[in-house]
Amino acid sequence: MHQRMNSTGTKLLAVCIFLFTIISTVLAQAPKTIAVETNNNALVLQTDKDNRLNIIHFGQRLTNQQEYGMAAGQYHFSDNNAGIYSNAYTPAGTFSLSEPAIAVTHADGNTSLELKYVSDNTQRIDDNTSLTAVTLKDPVYAVEVTLFYKAWKKENVIEQWSVIKNNEKKPIKLEKYASANLYFNADNYYLTHYHGSWAHEMNPEEEQLTHGIKSIDSKLGTRADLFEPPTFMISFDKPAGEDDGKVLLGQLAWSGNFKIECEVDSYNNLRLLAGINSYASEYQLAAGQEFQTPSFIYTYSQHGKGEASRNLHHWATRYRIVNGEGSRLTLLNNWESTYFGFDENKLVSLFKGAKDLGVDLFLLDDGWFGNKHPRNADTAGLGDWQENVQKLPHGIGYLVKEAQAAGIKFGIWVEPEMVNPKSELYEKHIDWVIRQPQRPEMYFRNQLVLDLSNPEVQNFVYGILDSLFTKNPDLAYIKWDCNAVIYNAYSAYLQKQGLPQSQLYVAYVKGLYNVMHRFRAKYPNVPAMLCSGGGGRVDYGALQYFTEYWPSDNTDPLERIFMQWEYSYFYPAIASSNHVTDWSKVSMKFRTDVAMMGKLGYDVDVSKLDPKDWEFSKHAVATYDSVKDLVWHGDLYRLVNPRENNIASLMFVDDAKSRAVMFTYLITSRFGQTSTLAPIKLKGLDANKRYSVREINLYPDTKSWIDGSHTYSGDFLMTIGFNPDMSQRRSSVVLEIKEVK
Ligand code: DGJ
Repeated sequence: MHQRMNSTGTKLLAVCIFLFTIISTVLAQAPKTIAVETNNNALVLQTDKDNRLNIIHFGQRLTNQQEYGMAAGQYHFSDNNAGIYSNAYTPAGTFSLSEPAIAVTHADGNTSLELKYVSDNTQRIDDNTSLTAVTLKDPVYAVEVTLFYKAWKKENVIEQWSVIKNNEKKPIKLEKYASANLYFNADNYYLTHYHGSWAHEMNPEEEQLTHGIKSIDSKLGTRADLFEPPTFMISFDKPAGEDDGKVLLGQLAWSGNFKIECEVDSYNNLRLLAGINSYASEYQLAAGQEFQTPSFIYTYSQHGKGEASRNLHHWATRYRIVNGEGSRLTLLNNWESTYFGFDENKLVSLFKGAKDLGVDLFLLDDGWFGNKHPRNADTAGLGDWQENVQKLPHGIGYLVKEAQAAGIKFGIWVEPEMVNPKSELYEKHIDWVIRQPQRPEMYFRNQLVLDLSNPEVQNFVYGILDSLFTKNPDLAYIKWDCNAVIYNAYSAYLQKQGLPQSQLYVAYVKGLYNVMHRFRAKYPNVPAMLCSGGGGRVDYGALQYFTEYWPSDNTDPLERIFMQWEYSYFYPAIASSNHVTDWSKVSMKFRTDVAMMGKLGYDVDVSKLDPKDWEFSKHAVATYDSVKDLVWHGDLYRLVNPRENNIASLMFVDDAKSRAVMFTYLITSRFGQTSTLAPIKLKGLDANKRYSVREINLYPDTKSWIDGSHTYSGDFLMTIGFNPDMSQRRSSVVLEIKEVK
């Protein structure tokens, strides 16, 4: 009996184990579907029969989530390549021979990596935000990757990054470590990317992608996007327009070397890889350590670039840039009016002009520091952050007080990451400088870059900012410049630590962010401009610590129309520092109208303005004050693209659709092209409301050609349009559109 019981029990156990094995095998093989959704879009991941994670859908979301699971079955990509291209984070050295997202050399020298799905979870952060984490593991080597997808529903933005963990017993080498690996299905793909140089930033180029890999990248080290920003668009099927077409706007939020790779595969699908540039950047990851990649940020719209850019603006102002929903300070900067040639009396004399002009703040630019090597030109002094006693005998504190006495705030310029060889800092701390010890030094703007991989240097850079604010608590603004690229990349610090030199590019940016983070933690509200000899460093990696950026040293308004237009696809107007300067001799009104399409500032010697321009400018600042809430917090609609027409036109509309401001600029003087023959169709208004249209920002005593007494329905203004009556005498026109009840 006992014997029988035993054998029955054993049989039962065997059956249970058998059933358990079957169930767990079936469960393990049942595809796991993970949908990362926003209000309009979905990125859907699914495991395959080998438990690898693939992307099975990117685009419009389905009403019924349950149906995502069936999507993959509708594609019959059945040869050996299937499931290889679409991997959600392609590892190197095993099943996939496509361009990898990650390549690793294990502690034992083996270079194979396989990543299998282990788990996922989605955390609700708030009503609008969720964070999905998917963990993948190599079944053979103790390497783990977690893919993170942070989704903002209303803004239709996803921020994606990866965390790579070394659970091996010894260090491993990361040869490539992308932030994102995406997969799209469309008939054709059109990539828009940007190239530039100093004073010539953000020139778009759109091209149809063909089979093979198209990559855009930077290897400049610091101001990486001087030549090519990590910012791009991809249109699907056909080139997207302003209000039509499917388009993705994307950016690697990283202020260093990056690489974006677009590969059209043999099924005509598009693989996208975005991450830190692996060029000279092999990264050693110690046992037990994690490496977090920077974020890849993107939005997708089926209704053109306009909607996609508004998505990004909403997201950036709500969630990314400092005080994005708040206010900004208009300012007068002294750079172009004095360059290095000033002293405290000259500066104090400028304060009154700033006050009379009506701006909020005076910004003292480069040239205020250095004693042994005075900063009287860009050849010396960088690194020696003590007030120059000749120019500022009473120090910055005195200037802050004098500015306050004149009724304005005071801000200051720094370039804390850099050093001139002619400086005490260089003489004392040559080991803090990025340079090859055995090669002749190479300079960019006569300067070198400090080694921010070194924590001591980070402390020094942080200390520059901290001591400025500690000594001068009323300092109200900071302009953080960065004018050199990294030549001769070599770190004495990494060498001393026994760390590979190939870590320098990454460690530099991480060190930079560490300093910016510390600064922001202590000074959360100080407005700060991210500047880099123009637009050499504008990205959401750095912008999370700043309130605004400097788009270009080129302040010719005609050039700025084109640059500001392109920047506006990725960044909100509140963050664009647009200054009126003497770079161009076109009318003061034209210069001012162009600057007004962002955050207005001035960089002129107001005492030298002719009386008519002076009167106009004082009124212009007051006019700007009356519409700046629209520019800063309204929705941007681009109406006429200057790259395709004789004019540029755009407008900002408030949430209630009851007020708007519209800017139109003539961009040519060619015969027959200097007038607006046809009306411009407005956008973003309420068809059922009635509006008045009034011209603003005119020279004093000038009568507008536009009769402001008429009212129009939103329907009329958006269907027929409105003609701002451009001509060579009216080369820029600003219209205020107001609901009439
Ligand atoms: C480059 C900046 O873009 C300018 O605005 C100015 O601050 C100079 N540097 C100062 O050297």
